[in-house]
Amino acid sequence: MPARGLNAPQAEFWNGPLTRAWARQHDRIDARFAPILDLLLARAAPRPGESVLDIGCGSGTSVLALAERVGSGGRVVGIDIAAESVAVAQRRIAAAGLRQAEVLLADAATHPFPPGSFDLLVSRFGVMFFEEPVAAFAHLRSALKPGARVALAAFRAGAENRWTSGAVAAVRDLISPPPPPGPEDPGQFAFADPARVERILRGAGFAEMALASEDVPMRLGADAEEAAGFAMTLGQVSRALQDAPEDLREAVRARLLDFYRAAEGPDGVVMPAAIWLVSARA
Ligand SMILES: C[S@@+](CC[C@H](N)C(=O)[O-])C[C@H]1O[C@@H](n2cnc3c(N)ncnc32)[C@H](O)[C@@H]1O
Repeated sequence: MPARGLNAPQAEFWNGPLTRAWARQHDRIDARFAPILDLLLARAAPRPGESVLDIGCGSGTSVLALAERVGSGGRVVGIDIAAESVAVAQRRIAAAGLRQAEVLLADAATHPFPPGSFDLLVSRFGVMFFEEPVAAFAHLRSALKPGARVALAAFRAGAENRWTSGAVAAVRDLISPPPPPGPEDPGQFAFADPARVERILRGAGFAEMALASEDVPMRLGADAEEAAGFAMTLGQVSRALQDAPEDLREAVRARLLDFYRAAEGPDGVVMPAAIWLVSARA
C-alpha cells in the first residue's frame, strides 16, 4: 500500500474491490472517456521532447497517448496509488515499447519527484482525491519547471452529471446510498466548485488559472442493458450493492434499465459528462 499518511484511506479505497474495474475493465472505461482524453490532450498540447507528469494515471491510457506525442526524445511519468492499475499500465507500456514512459506506484502528494523537472502536469480525473489538496498541489508544483503548464480534467457537480447522479436517484429508495462527501472532502466531485479549484491552485502557488466548462457526450453502452450492467459494476450504485441479495440486485437492474432506456438512441446510450478543463501555470 503506497500511501501511509494522510491519503491512506484513499489508497485503501483505490486498492479495494470497489474500484477494481478501473484496472480490470479499463478498456470499457477508456471507450467512455475517449472524447474527454481528446479534449484534455488538445488543452495540454504536449510537444515532442517535453517531460510530462500524469497524476492518478490509472491503467495508463493517458500515459500512452502522451508518450506518443512527446516522442522518444521526451519523457512521461505516470503516478498512481492503485497497485493493480499500475501493473496494467506498466504492462501496456512494455507491450507498446514506449521507453520514454514509466508509471510509479506511489502517492502523488508526497512522492519525492526530482525538483523542477517537468514541462507539463496532466490528469484525467486523478487529482480530486487528496486529503490536503493545497499541500499536494504545492508539492506537485515543486516538481515542475517555472512556467510549466497544467491541464486537468475534473467532474463538475454530481447534479450536472446525470449519467451517474440520475442512476443513483433512480434506485435511491432501494439501496440507500451513503451520504455524499462534504465539499472539502476528497471524492469524484471534489473539484465541482470552480472557486474551490482556484483557491487550491492559487494556494499552491499556481497562476493563470482558467476553467472551461465542457459537456462531453459519453457512450455508456450499446444499449440500456450494457449501461445498467456497468453502473452495477463501478460507481456509486455498485458500492451500495456490495453483498446485496439477488432479488435486490434484480430490482436495481430493472430501475436502471428504465433510466438508461430513456437515453437510448441510434448510437446506444449517450449522456453528457459535465467536466471542467482546468488550466494553469506553475
Ligand atoms: C477516477 S480514477 C482515474 C484514472 C485514470 N486517470 C483514468 O482516467 O482512467 C482516479 C485515479 O487516481 C488515483 N489516485 C487517487 N489518489 C491518488 C494519490 N494520492 N496519488 C496518486 N494517485 C491517486 C486512483 O488510484 C485512481 O487510479
